[in-house]
Amino acid sequence: MRRKFVAGNWKMHGGLARNRDLLDSLIKGIGGGGKADCAVCVPFPYLAQAQELLKGTAIAWGAQNCSEHPQGAYTGEVSAAMLADFGCRYAIVGHSERRSLYGERNETVAAKFVAAVDGGLTPILCLGETLEQREQGVTEQVIAAQFDAVLQAAGVHGFANAVIAYEPVWAIGTGRTASPQQAQDVHAFIRGRLASSDAALAQRMQILYGGSVKPQNAAELFGMADIDGGLIGGASLVAQDFLAICSAA
Ligand code: PGA
Repeated sequence: MRRKFVAGNWKMHGGLARNRDLLDSLIKGIGGGGKADCAVCVPFPYLAQAQELLKGTAIAWGAQNCSEHPQGAYTGEVSAAMLADFGCRYAIVGHSERRSLYGERNETVAAKFVAAVDGGLTPILCLGETLEQREQGVTEQVIAAQFDAVLQAAGVHGFANAVIAYEPVWAIGTGRTASPQQAQDVHAFIRGRLASSDAALAQRMQILYGGSVKPQNAAELFGMADIDGGLIGGASLVAQDFLAICSAA
């Protein structure tokens, strides 16, 4: 039985005072931990704050991106080793906002995934199709290309300590969620693709769903056979909502 996992993606939201309130509420709400794993992926400047407040709690923390390079003259970039210095367990890689707004191609995402693994982090690899691609009926080809680029670069052993998130682009921040069955179909496809390389690992892999997960739809989504939790954007900024989603997992 795979453990459920719920990760918050704060995106570019927050501030010292507001984060403290939110994290205090999450710590109180989650206590010693529930049946699901829980993490928050915060903006880089707040990693020290997350480390200070979350150390010793049941809530892990991570970043939303990391450089594909280990170090060097890369102005504005942050390496996996730097994230590990702040106690990060996770780094989101390949979020659709990074792909679409910052031009990250499959090869870059793959290199970031490898850098995260090499730096001792657990990458949360995001895969997802746009609305146009879904309507053209090429969802599986798009997901396969995104996934295969990472598999090729990292090897199947690179997935031994990784999490995958299926995030249909058309469902992110739009209030339009994939139906549980639509999500389940893609999750099963991803698991099957990994199973072609390593069936046992595919069975263990946590595959999260992301895209307008709310307290009202979380339980139904997480009840699907291949959905192992969620990557939560907007609702992760509201303590009550995020806690309700964690309890649904
Ligand atoms: P959302 O974002 O929950 O606000 O749709 C999810 C994500 O982008 O990870």
